[in-house]
Amino acid sequence: MSERKIILGIESSCDDTAAAVSINNKICSNIAATQDIHREYGGVVPELASRAHQAHIVPVVHQALERSGYTLSDLDGIAYTHGPGLMGSLLVGTSFAKAMAQSLDIPLIQVHHMKAHVLAHLIDDGSPIPPFPFLCLTVSGGHTQIVQVNAPLDMTILGQTLDDAVGEAFDKAAKMMGLPYPGGPLIDQLAKDGEPVYEFPIPKIEGLDYSFSGLKTSFLYFLQKEMRNDDGFIETHKHDLAASIQQVLIDFLLQKLKRAIRETGIKHIAVAGGVSANSSLRERIKQLEKKEGCTTYIPAFEYCTDNAAMICTAGYYQLLEGDLGDIAKPPLARWSFTGS
Ligand code: KG4
Ligand code: ZN
Repeated sequence: MSERKIILGIESSCDDTAAAVSINNKICSNIAATQDIHREYGGVVPELASRAHQAHIVPVVHQALERSGYTLSDLDGIAYTHGPGLMGSLLVGTSFAKAMAQSLDIPLIQVHHMKAHVLAHLIDDGSPIPPFPFLCLTVSGGHTQIVQVNAPLDMTILGQTLDDAVGEAFDKAAKMMGLPYPGGPLIDQLAKDGEPVYEFPIPKIEGLDYSFSGLKTSFLYFLQKEMRNDDGFIETHKHDLAASIQQVLIDFLLQKLKRAIRETGIKHIAVAGGVSANSSLRERIKQLEKKEGCTTYIPAFEYCTDNAAMICTAGYYQLLEGDLGDIAKPPLARWSFTGS
């Protein structure tokens, strides 16, 4: 075992201000302040998000350190989300992390948000850790990817969305039904008491890629048509509508994931990102064990949505490999897996 590394992780890519402290890949504290302000606007308002990050970052970092039992002088490095994400949000975490690392004279580690979602699987919390290589279905509000993970710092995207992310599709479908933001968890809740009686065709997309914009449009047209005949349609049928849109979104995710399993022969399957909190998706992933002979890995709820524990874990592996940040580099709103 390598020497002990204590890392402070900071996440501010979207609308959660989060900080965590880890010792190697065990998490000592994991704090997040979510921003309710966006609810009334039906989506994340970038300017409000960055202002809220500014208000939250000091108390959130303070609390993460306090709960961990460590102090600033114990830290071996500061890992933070360098991208991708909303520029105004990223800038808050970036400036804070850079200033702190410089004043403490310790390594600064620039973490890729989507890689960190995948690496949440390597957090040592007692649950089984997938062996390499494994496939990870990463599903969030900004991304939808099937990733082949060969080692902590060696992963390639096998397929991804060509337009909207699946979380965005959940949120937009919810918005069409008059539900507040973020609607994904509400669709999940409503669907529990509904049946998928309305059929929406799975989009036909080449290879292992996804596309959700067409599905979103067919859901909208369907609602508009039904509402012309009965303006109470959505309210009366909200459970079945939620179950129907959820079913096709998850069918589509599973269709490509199964294809990736067949094409790569890899049977260790993980799921990551905010949408992995969806109860139906979790169930369907679990079913791959019986149906496809896979072993599946679903992270604890707190490590599914945006969190700083995953930033600590990515930071830990990067620190071991000497993959450190350059203080002069600005954050990246868009950041490919391979680019720097
Ligand atoms: O990873 P995440 O917290 O933030 C991003 O990096 O985007 O993912 C947020 C997304 C939102 O679209 C939210 O609606 C969705 O995850 N989400 C869910 C559920 N919980 C969160 N979607 C469906 N069912 C859920 N239970
Ligand atoms: Zn995320």
